[in-house]
Amino acid sequence: MRKRVSAASYYLMLTSFIFVVCFLAFINYQHLGVTHSSILPKFSISRASQQQVSHANDAENTNNNTFKNLNKKTNQIDLSNQSSSDALKIILLWSTWSSTMADEPLVKARCPVTSCIFTADMSLIHQSDVVVLYVDTLTDFPLNRRPHQRFVFAQLESPDNTKMATINDPRLRYDYFNWTMTYRRDSDIFLRDYYGSVIKTNHYSKLNTAKISNISQEMTALIRGKSKLVAWFVAHCSTPIRREEYVRQLSDFVTVDIYGRCGKDCPSNCDDLLRTDYKFYLAFENSWCPDYITEKFIRPLVYDSVPIVLGGANYSHFAPPHSYINARDFDSPKELADYLILLDKSDDLYARYFDWKRDHDITLLDLSGWCDLCEMAHDDTLPAKTYRDIKQWWMLDDGECETDSNKYF
Ligand SMILES: *[C@@H]1O[C@H](CO)[C@@H](O)[C@H](O)[C@H]1NC(C)=O
Ligand SMILES: *[C@@H]1O[C@H](CO)[C@@H](O)[C@H](O)[C@H]1NC(C)=O
Ligand SMILES: *[C@@H]1O[C@H](CO)[C@@H](O)[C@H](O)[C@H]1NC(C)=O
Ligand SMILES: *[C@@H]1O[C@H](CO)[C@@H](O)[C@H](O)[C@H]1NC(C)=O
Ligand SMILES: *[C@@H]1O[C@H](CO)[C@@H](O)[C@H](O)[C@H]1NC(C)=O
Repeated sequence: MRKRVSAASYYLMLTSFIFVVCFLAFINYQHLGVTHSSILPKFSISRASQQQVSHANDAENTNNNTFKNLNKKTNQIDLSNQSSSDALKIILLWSTWSSTMADEPLVKARCPVTSCIFTADMSLIHQSDVVVLYVDTLTDFPLNRRPHQRFVFAQLESPDNTKMATINDPRLRYDYFNWTMTYRRDSDIFLRDYYGSVIKTNHYSKLNTAKISNISQEMTALIRGKSKLVAWFVAHCSTPIRREEYVRQLSDFVTVDIYGRCGKDCPSNCDDLLRTDYKFYLAFENSWCPDYITEKFIRPLVYDSVPIVLGGANYSHFAPPHSYINARDFDSPKELADYLILLDKSDDLYARYFDWKRDHDITLLDLSGWCDLCEMAHDDTLPAKTYRDIKQWWMLDDGECETDSNKYF
């Protein structure tokens, strides 16, 4: 009986909540002077209310420098002349992304073209040139659009972790997206963002020989100080691809120290520990998908350890030769272990795994994809484009992940 009462009052509360939110949304649209209801985005009620609430919360946070900057820039836009290619382009980040990006990624990345504004202000839907939809965080999506607008499929998680309910929605799946922006190299916009990147430079050519020999000496000292073999920092203890089983088999032959949720705590800073103590780091991805290489790979490169990779990407497209060891180049965990033992015995052989540092740098945050997006938003010569079936592109065809690791170990 008590349960029924509480369920009833719950529904009453929910109904009034939805009513209030719809009312606020209505006021909001009136305020924008949008009168033709046919051009309003159509949401399902409950989803729309969530979004409107978070939008309202964002609006309260205007006491913020970035936000002030955003408002200032937005006011400069001549909304009547959007076709001009040098006008500021509005890139709307639909869904729950940070609303305070403004032109920050473009400035940070020193993009050649910076005349774009990133905003999460959904009232700008009809003024936007580009609408970025990050599928995993979508709670709703716009259904009415202007022909010149590009709707962008954005994804940084692998297909294995993509929200199926969203991508299966036929309204979103078919003839909806114009561009793709993902970690896959065949995307319209290739984005690595917080996964980081190895970047080619002519670093060493600018240094004099004294300095270079100094760096080599420091490196030699660092390598001599490393007394342990393999570290693994891990949070997901069990994965469909069974990477943990590979680690178990490997640890029959060499010591693997496991830290994090599936092992022990780092005594102090994990990254420092990696630099001072460990020769190798297991950069095993939790799903094996084309081009899917996360920050797990970039971190050990920064912290002077050699990544041992296991994943679905062709790593040679992402890092120079001899900067990592690919477990899949070995017939078994035992063969890999034998190779690690060989390198452990020879500082010279091991040191060669750092030669790439002479002409490469690492960036932990690679924002160049955002530059490309802004540039493309300005390029009026780009033809119209629509993805007939985004699921086909993302998870079938060229995007398919490996699900069976039995043949490897
Ligand atoms: C301003 O934005 C930053 C993120 O860009 C956030 O960390 C900070 O809390 C915000 N400040 C206010 C007052 O909302
Ligand atoms: C748009 O702006 C450009 C350059 O600022 C100008 O040449 C053009 O006449 C404008 N078009 C309209 C329709 O106002
Ligand atoms: C070499 O490194 C030491 C200590 O790391 C530093 O004091 C010295 O100035 C460096 N020499 C050169 C030529 O960079
Ligand atoms: C990886 O890419 C390189 C360079 O394009 C190519 O030579 C190599 O065959 C590829 N490896 C695999 C396993 O596909
Ligand atoms: C974007 O896709 C929509 C839906 O298929 C299409 O109507 C529109 O012409 C496309 N726009 C561009 C600029 O490619």
